[in-house]
Amino acid sequence: MTDYALLSEQLAALSEGVPARVSVLANAAALLWESLPGCNWAGFYLLRGDTLYLGPFQGKVACVSIPVGRGVCGTAIARNETQLVPDVHAFPGHIACDAASRSELVIPLRVNGALYGVLDLDSPEPSRFTEADRAGLERFAAALERALEACAFA
Ligand code: SME
Repeated sequence: MTDYALLSEQLAALSEGVPARVSVLANAAALLWESLPGCNWAGFYLLRGDTLYLGPFQGKVACVSIPVGRGVCGTAIARNETQLVPDVHAFPGHIACDAASRSELVIPLRVNGALYGVLDLDSPEPSRFTEADRAGLERFAAALERALEACAFA
């Protein structure tokens, strides 16, 4: 089981004094990728208008844009709530960037009170993400939001 308290502390330390949000997101993706076994994608989609655009990530190349309300990521933004999907094949409208993906966890991010984008984790294992992962990663996402709020520019 990943030590999410430690992971959040590592993210805060890595982000200390970093002025660029893109740099914070890039290191956050790398940290998740090396700390979470069994994932085939870890990264971010960023909200611009009514579309999510591919942000920093680790894993295979992925779809570049996702309309709000579409797929797991677009649903997380439209509902403004975490989506824990044990079997993506059972999720209506799931967008298969990688046919190997079987389970997914998507957490909406808010910066200075406004929806900013999503943290997206995919796994080729069914039910890879538990309620404990959700709670831990929501804590990580909160640490990330604070780090992004401290940045000076995008
Ligand atoms: N599966 C996602 C799309 C993003 S990729 O998996 C990286 C979705 O349905 O939103």
